[in-house]
Amino acid sequence: MPETRPKTTPKVLVINGPNLNLLGHRERDIYGDQTLDDIYALLTARFSNISFHFYQSNSEGELIDQLQTAIESDYIGVVLNPGAYGHYSYALRDAVAAATVPVIEVHLTNVFRREPFRAVSVIAPVCWGSIVGLGPLGYVLAVDALLEKAKVTKSAR
Ligand code: DQA
Repeated sequence: MPETRPKTTPKVLVINGPNLNLLGHRERDIYGDQTLDDIYALLTARFSNISFHFYQSNSEGELIDQLQTAIESDYIGVVLNPGAYGHYSYALRDAVAAATVPVIEVHLTNVFRREPFRAVSVIAPVCWGSIVGLGPLGYVLAVDALLEKAKVTKSAR
């Protein structure tokens, strides 16, 4: 049977928190050489069928404003690297909890192998999942997971 429904382009919101604009320059021994633009290019090359809204801010309030755009939206989900806010921002946690689409927390580095304060995530309990320590690949895997989940949800209807 020919597919009669119009094919829609899946939309994914990618939110990057404080200091991630400095990737490629900042503590390269820890975070590597890849910039945030490189990560965006990686995602758009890997997922040419997805429409990304790729966002970065150093400000907690602006990150929360972006998360709120995912409420009752047509995003299939959110990839969130909260930076250091993930370790202590209850306001960010509340915004994640309010999201009506799945949110995946991503950290480039293995936060469990670093300073003890980084082993705490106040947002992990309200995220669908977390990916840590895999560098930019973590963003790719997170988008893959959102696509899988969107497929499962659709076929379950
Ligand atoms: C980070 C880990 C955080 O602890 C840190 O504050 C960052 C980057 C990561 O991607 O590994 O800014 O989120």
